[in-house]
Amino acid sequence: MKLGLIPLVAMSGSCGREVSFKDEVHPVLEARCISCHAPGAPGWAASGFSVASYQSVMKGTKYGRVVIPGSSAGSTLVRLLNHETDPSIAMPKSHRPETPSEWLTPDQIKLIRTWIDQGAKDN
Ligand code: HEC
Repeated sequence: MKLGLIPLVAMSGSCGREVSFKDEVHPVLEARCISCHAPGAPGWAASGFSVASYQSVMKGTKYGRVVIPGSSAGSTLVRLLNHETDPSIAMPKSHRPETPSEWLTPDQIKLIRTWIDQGAKDN
């Protein structure tokens, strides 16, 4: 029986399903970003960007928004995750300063892109 494959397909985000910030996107940010991007942590101190809440993600950095609802291609957040920026600010940074920035998995990046393209809702 190949039924075991069905849940994977359902989770791929490519079939029009709505991605949830609370249940899917925020857990990724909590696992990979919040250690540096919450009030008091180094990434927050350097950029003002906190992933502590939906509101703080949407507020962006001290320079402005990094998520443009409806446009993953226009969102700085996605460019950082795709390492399309200067390598020194690709995200997530490594906790060891001497090693290069790390990567989210392709599925995690796709999830975040889909959430943004679906309007970056507080859902
Ligand atoms: C090990 C610490 C660390 C981790 C983990 C980390 N960051 Fe950062 N982040 C930083 C630092 C430090 C800066 C400030 C940029 C610099 O190096 O000058 C920054 C800057 C940023 C910025 C602002 C960039 C700009 O345009 O100014 C964004 C957005 C960001 N990070 C998102 C993320 C996301 C999303 C994750 C998780 C996928 C993440 N970061 C994980 C340390 C981290």
